[in-house]
Amino acid sequence: MQRLVNKQVVLGVSGGIAAYKSAELVRRLRDAGAEVRVVMTQAAREFITPLTLQALSGHPVHGDLLDPAAEAAMGHIELARWADLVLIAPTTADLMARLAQGRGDDLLTTLVLATDAPVAIAPAMNQAMWRDPATQANLATLQERGVRVFGPAAGEQACGDVGPGRMLEPVDLATRAAECFELGLLTGRHLLINAGPTREAIDPVRYISNHSSGKMGFALAAAAAELDARVTLVAGPVNLPTPPRVTRIDVVSARDMLEACLAALPADLFIAAAAVADYRPEQCATSKLKKSPDGNDGMLLRMVRNPDILATLASHPQRPWCVGFAAETDNLLDYARDKLVRKNLDLIIANDVSLPGIGFNSDQNAVTLIDRDLNQTSLPQTSKQKLARQIMTQLAARLAGPN
Ligand code: PMT
Repeated sequence: MQRLVNKQVVLGVSGGIAAYKSAELVRRLRDAGAEVRVVMTQAAREFITPLTLQALSGHPVHGDLLDPAAEAAMGHIELARWADLVLIAPTTADLMARLAQGRGDDLLTTLVLATDAPVAIAPAMNQAMWRDPATQANLATLQERGVRVFGPAAGEQACGDVGPGRMLEPVDLATRAAECFELGLLTGRHLLINAGPTREAIDPVRYISNHSSGKMGFALAAAAAELDARVTLVAGPVNLPTPPRVTRIDVVSARDMLEACLAALPADLFIAAAAVADYRPEQCATSKLKKSPDGNDGMLLRMVRNPDILATLASHPQRPWCVGFAAETDNLLDYARDKLVRKNLDLIIANDVSLPGIGFNSDQNAVTLIDRDLNQTSLPQTSKQKLARQIMTQLAARLAGPN
């Protein structure tokens, strides 16, 4: 069930008697570590109240496609992008038919059309309806499109019939949902990740820093924890919550960050996602610097080089497998290759920070991975969370393999 930790599951509920079991399913999914957002069809509300599912999921239930208030909170496209898995339990015969037709006439069907996440259905209906050739044809269509089908089970039905069509029990559905995700690629590994900016003090109230928000590094830490790694996250000053199962060490300056990274060794893998200040003021004034009274002066700040954290760890006797980021505004791949060689890295992640909407302080990113053999893997623009999972899957495979 660890596979569900941090996973974002949209639970669709359609209008069948088995809808009452969705309440327990929400609990099972959350107990396993998933975040759950519930989407109900109109008919589902006849069987179970949105309030019940809201209380259990901890979030308002989504129901209307054309509700401006709901769209303002989290629109249907946003919800479709948010999902790591769309699980519809129960799925009625009618909903199967509408999904097979590719209809988009309510929130749930629209969301299924719009999502890139895997879609799983848990059929629940009368045994004769399940056996009906129309339902079976819809089932085949959905399976051909890659929709996963959980169940149905056979047995006694609410209507008194006996046969196939019972929805799987919530515990079984949660297990099947967990199986949609990979587990344990990093079990037993210690990952050291740094993230965010550093601050280099000028005087007690001023500093030099950069626009890094820490989102990329924190997403990588979360993704590594999802794959069962032990994660140490050395974070510069950022305003982000610590991902579950991650040990966080807060630091301020580049020198603090180096010290914390060295103290965290040994590690199997080091990912340098932090935007470390290359220079710091030679001296930090002990009291606040004052403007000169005539107002016409300039100010000269002498800067000295900071230690290179990544290069230091890459040449350390307890050297981990080393991954750097190259944040560049031009000549991206050339500069990245140069850093790969110069800092003696195993892999570098080239990050074009000139493009709007990705890179520093944005929610999305797009990168190219370059290894020592100069093989390139491009990962197109998506949320930093999704990208982090893709990066981590790649890194886990390389760590396990001959590379
Ligand atoms: O934090 P976000 O807002 O989510 O933004 C993400 C990011 C753009 C900061 C991140 O994806 C990124 O690209 N991080 C590296 C930024 C950077 O400093 O790149 P660089 O090309 O200057 O440095 C190359 C590598 O050396 C980096 O891995 C860096 O961490 C490391 N380095 C640099 C200088 C230094 N003194 N010590 C280092 O370890």
